[in-house]
Amino acid sequence: MNRIFSGVQPTGNLHLGNYLGAIRNWVRLQRDYECLYCVVDMHAITVWQDPAALRASTREVTAGLVAAGLDPAKNILFNQSQVSGHAELAWIFNCVARLGWLNRMTQFKEKAGKQRENASAGLYVYPNLMAADILLYKATHVPVGEDQKQHLELARDIAQKFNGDFGVEFFPLIEPLILGAATRVMSLRDGTKKMSKSDASDYSRINLTDDADAIALKIRKAKTDSGVLPETPAGLEARPEADNLLGIYGALADKSLEDACREFAGASFSVFKEKLVERAVAELQPIQTEMKRLLADPASIDSILRSGAERARAIAEPILKEVQAIVGFLRP
Ligand code: TYM
Repeated sequence: MNRIFSGVQPTGNLHLGNYLGAIRNWVRLQRDYECLYCVVDMHAITVWQDPAALRASTREVTAGLVAAGLDPAKNILFNQSQVSGHAELAWIFNCVARLGWLNRMTQFKEKAGKQRENASAGLYVYPNLMAADILLYKATHVPVGEDQKQHLELARDIAQKFNGDFGVEFFPLIEPLILGAATRVMSLRDGTKKMSKSDASDYSRINLTDDADAIALKIRKAKTDSGVLPETPAGLEARPEADNLLGIYGALADKSLEDACREFAGASFSVFKEKLVERAVAELQPIQTEMKRLLADPASIDSILRSGAERARAIAEPILKEVQAIVGFLRP
């Protein structure tokens, strides 16, 4: 049986990158698989979070997922810190993963930057917690954006080393699912930088909370080059902004990059951008409206998370017990 697990950090607004790289695929997968979707508040605190803002953001991200179409009755939707097994398995994985493996993680290098000595120990072992998130449920498939690929490879290595060290075939090997035409959405201000929650400029990203006017303004202001749109994707590597905007259009219109190019071959950016605004507003505005409606009733969001956590615990507990027995923890 295939079980899907994925997670998102509650560290600010969900943006178009989260949506096209991950959330929209989560919504599609819920039709055919048993899915767990987790708001990873324990990952969030690997960098400083104001407690009140963390609570608010956990609710907001949950509302965003439901508004985007995740059915909380069908899927297990919960926040990580409510299921203590994540922390317990992460500790065991801290003892399985090797320092050399963690030293290769590009995300740690990017996030810690020049302040490496001052980064939290949690930020360093972040990928071990991620492996625990997935393997606590023996999930097999993980839908993510391109930027999480390296972390998932590490999770595979952890599963393999655990199985090898203890001579068991216990953990499955995880398969990443990196789907769609926009697996790495770039900043609207700089096509060589990833669209991210932490970019200082709000014009760099489209947030799921942006209204139609804000979406239109950000797309119209998005950086471009001085050419017209190409007939084919050949040569787009040298035109990162055109590449990014066409990829976003393709993803929103459910078309390949090739088809998006064919549709706009020879057009100016201003003509293309108006079509992109139309698509983006049509897709995102209903989500934004629904999110607002859901956030007006925080108690019902909390109840979704509470019942999701209960269901998650029911799957996790027997698996964690087996892991503890394999490791040799005496639990008389
Ligand atoms: P996070 O919160 O940064 O992002 C959530 C999801 O959105 C995708 N994503 C993007 N996709 C395309 N273009 C972008 N610019 C972009 N920015 C973000 C991410 O790839 C991700 O799928 N470490 C994870 C959260 C996590 C997790 C897990 C994921 C914790 N445990 C277990 C999978 C399985 C993260 O920080 O995602």
